Amino acid sequence: MTTLRFPTEFVWGVATSSYQIEGAALEDGRGESIWDRFSKTPGKVRDGTNGDVACDHYHRFREDIALMKSLGIRHYRFSVAWPRILPAGRGKVNQAGLDFYGRLVDALLEAGIEPFVTLYHWDLPQALQDEGGWAKRSTAEAFAEYAGVVAKFLGSRVKKWITHNEPWCAGILSHQLGIHAPGLKDYRTALAASHHLLLSHGLAVPIIRAASPGAEVGITLNLTPSEPASPSAADHDAARHFDGHFNRWFLDPLFGRRYPVDIVADYIAAGHLPPEGLTVVQPGDFEAIAVKCDFLGINYYNRTVLRSDKVPEAQNEPRQVFLAPEKEWTEMGWEVHPNGLRDTLLRVHLDYRPRKIYVTENGASYSTPPGADGRVKDEQRLAFLRDHFAAAHRAMEAGVPLAGYFVWSLMDNFEWDRGYSQRFGIVWVDYKTQQRIPKDSALWYRGVIAENAVQV
Ligand code: NOJ
Repeated sequence: MTTLRFPTEFVWGVATSSYQIEGAALEDGRGESIWDRFSKTPGKVRDGTNGDVACDHYHRFREDIALMKSLGIRHYRFSVAWPRILPAGRGKVNQAGLDFYGRLVDALLEAGIEPFVTLYHWDLPQALQDEGGWAKRSTAEAFAEYAGVVAKFLGSRVKKWITHNEPWCAGILSHQLGIHAPGLKDYRTALAASHHLLLSHGLAVPIIRAASPGAEVGITLNLTPSEPASPSAADHDAARHFDGHFNRWFLDPLFGRRYPVDIVADYIAAGHLPPEGLTVVQPGDFEAIAVKCDFLGINYYNRTVLRSDKVPEAQNEPRQVFLAPEKEWTEMGWEVHPNGLRDTLLRVHLDYRPRKIYVTENGASYSTPPGADGRVKDEQRLAFLRDHFAAAHRAMEAGVPLAGYFVWSLMDNFEWDRGYSQRFGIVWVDYKTQQRIPKDSALWYRGVIAENAVQV
């Protein structure tokens, strides 16, 4: 056994998001979101469920905070539901919505838990979607207004802000692949949406800073190492393309490099963009997007292995394959590959030099239920987390300025297009009774936090 010690100020946390846990979809003046609409459209969510009740966290947040406290958790990343604050997306503020987050933040602070607030975790007000959603520049402006309202209200109490969660998902998975709300399948729309997401980040950062003096502000990207399935030149090119499409498309503009020219050329060649390129970009956009941030958030789940043959259903993106079929997969069908976290952290550090990095999400879906004794022996999740913590430690030894790590998720919740069938929580949720049971991984995590160390 080796003990891997983490730096004294290392942030150990857990993460959730509004639509996935809150429920209370129709309460206290909340407006409709694109996920309400999408999840209630037959065929969009595999088990036909939605977030109307979810974990009922809106009513049970005090109990959930007490649970976190009992697990020794001192940092909590959650998101604010835009349609609770501005039900029509802009304009009239719903004070009852703000007050909910005020109560939540006060209760967290009282429990000695520091809030990390994500402003956008995919629940766009449907009213804005009706006007064209993220494909429209006006949505970026509405986001800046929303960010200002929340930051003014919570700015003296919240000092860690994340503008967006996973713009690849909000932009591409949602508008090109059609898997997430609003469920569109159009490349040009997806690229316009992605640009406006990035732009809205750039517009919001100075507004948040002004309203929340001394705060740290950043954005969270989902990143994946992109590896060729074979040494062939064609597979290498597929990996280059996928890396550019998935990682560099967001990293490059955030770090002042504009969109990667190789990918713009690929998109033009494939007809995904017109010959003149991204026409939605206006003068000043790149400067706004490249606003200096205090940290970069990284969500890491798996690597991606690419082969050169194109997939027509994915609008001719290269094919993603499994490199090592004998390896372990989580119930999402994702390969367990801890070293990919080290690789991702090192790559971002060496290529982009963010001031500071947080792993804002990492975790695994395993549905291990409570046994006859009521205990949830989720050994696979525990091993998954342990091995990923060790990989993060290796990255830090190599010089990566990693400041913290948030486990996804505090509790089982609504896993988007997979509904409630996938369980990522370190706490079990019985959706019938809303009972919470800390799984073995949660009890183990309590020890990691207390020792600030991982035994491997
Ligand atoms: C990333 C997303 O931010 C989160 O909402 C989701 O549940 C997890 N990944 C697992 O898929």
